[in-house]
Amino acid sequence: MPTKVVIGAQWGDEGKGKTIDILAGRADVVVRTSGGNNAGHTIEANGITYKLHLMPSGILNPNTLNIIGCGVVVDPRVLLEEIDGMESKGISTKNLKIDARAHVIMPYHIELDGLSETARGKSDIGTTKKGIGPCYMDKAERSGIRMCDLINTNKFAQCVRQNLEIKNKMIELVYGGKPLDADAIINEYAEYAKSLAPYVTDTTPILYDSIKAGKEVLFEGAQGILLDIDLGTYPYVTSSHPISGGVCVGSGIGPTVIDECIGIAKGYTTRVGNGPFPTELEDEIGETIRQKGHEFGTTTGRPRRTGWFDAVIVKYAVRTSSLTSLVLNKIDPLGGLDKIKICIAYRKNGEITTDFPPTLEELAQCEPVYEEMDGWTEDISHIKEFNCLPAAAQKYILRIEELCGCPITSIGVGPGRDQNIDRV
Ligand code: GTP
Repeated sequence: MPTKVVIGAQWGDEGKGKTIDILAGRADVVVRTSGGNNAGHTIEANGITYKLHLMPSGILNPNTLNIIGCGVVVDPRVLLEEIDGMESKGISTKNLKIDARAHVIMPYHIELDGLSETARGKSDIGTTKKGIGPCYMDKAERSGIRMCDLINTNKFAQCVRQNLEIKNKMIELVYGGKPLDADAIINEYAEYAKSLAPYVTDTTPILYDSIKAGKEVLFEGAQGILLDIDLGTYPYVTSSHPISGGVCVGSGIGPTVIDECIGIAKGYTTRVGNGPFPTELEDEIGETIRQKGHEFGTTTGRPRRTGWFDAVIVKYAVRTSSLTSLVLNKIDPLGGLDKIKICIAYRKNGEITTDFPPTLEELAQCEPVYEEMDGWTEDISHIKEFNCLPAAAQKYILRIEELCGCPITSIGVGPGRDQNIDRV
């Protein structure tokens, strides 16, 4: 199966890094297709921890080609820090390619992201304030600056001056902020352009040829399907497409070349930021899961909201991303609970549905319909075979598989790369 997509099947933070890391280690090409430095994974190799935000996960393998596709938004300063960090640890980045069409995050995007979130007050979206949303706004508005413009000195300066005229008005007049200086930006970014120019190219023929040649290609997802701008819990979403279809528009391939779509879920549900969350546990059990699963934001340290596994959500992921298999991570934090609940459907205005609703208003009206299962007390973190799991854990996993309508091919029982139970 040469072409694989890995995506998050819930609200993100499902532990995609582990699966991506394993698959990236043997892939010929690894491609990032959406989002920016609001995502990323931690990879451990040879006792060293690498924090990747923009860099595709195949970078540690010297024979793997790593592509930042046209759907990604690139903060050049962050990418250069990552490149320098890699090189200083002896990891070559010569196999990194950035698509010329990828949009560039500019200082005014970052400024406006912060100002607009502050202005929204309590109804903020909960963005990472890294300029990602405003960059995608400019892309849709057709005033964005792309990597091909960044490395074209004259065009870049012209674009910055033109954009800044309007952006500074917004910063000053709408939000009462301090205007930015065009010359300072042009000079700063000219340095970034020099360093990044060797990586910038049209990546689409390279990808096409790799797929044609039968090479192993991994499309590395970021975030989760419920954060998709169209199919997610709008407006509490990201500005791009974390669903499997996003890899097509974010890299320049068509859907017929994808062989496998792997969805990563965890044995319970978490959510960061605002918006309805039907299975949320605002009690001691929720706190226990948060502590045992270390459910705190990687950069912010903010506690994540926790709740029971919601099969309606993962079934929605299976449907909207045509998932061919599921990885179920983080079963271990559920150990020690006397009873475990699975949300098998929603009750909405007296009616039962297993379809995830399209609006937040409807989602807010949904009450979870639970099935209660027995828990287990044994430590499962060392278990390597499905049949060796406690009977209650096996039942739990098989019931989730049945409810979501997709085979669970791997189960995570701990954070380590070897703490997975493969069922294939
Ligand atoms: P985003 O792309 O930002 O959504 O995150 P992600 O899905 O890549 O999550 P990440 O790989 O950062 O995983 C989150 C944490 O969960 C990491 O610290 C992992 O080591 C840990 N983790 C992954 N699988 C398991 C598991 O099965 N059990 C436990 N206890 N921890 C796990």
